Amino acid sequence: MIVCICNALSEDEVRTAARAGAPCAKSAYAHLGCEAQCGSCLCFAQEIVDEERAQLLQVDAVAA
Ligand code: FES
Repeated sequence: MIVCICNALSEDEVRTAARAGAPCAKSAYAHLGCEAQCGSCLCFAQEIVDEERAQLLQVDAVAA
């Protein structure tokens, strides 16, 4: 699924950036070598980043 039309970013790419440590949508975009243009995707991208980071925290909590 495409998350950002302006930058042709897929959901998988945004998830990968979040798993690599990007704490917010704009950081995820920077990690992927671009930046928000129109900004209409940022809320959805942030939901994806939040979801991915929450899953990472759960994995860390189980491993601890
Ligand atoms: S759709 Fe992502 S910046 Fe426009």
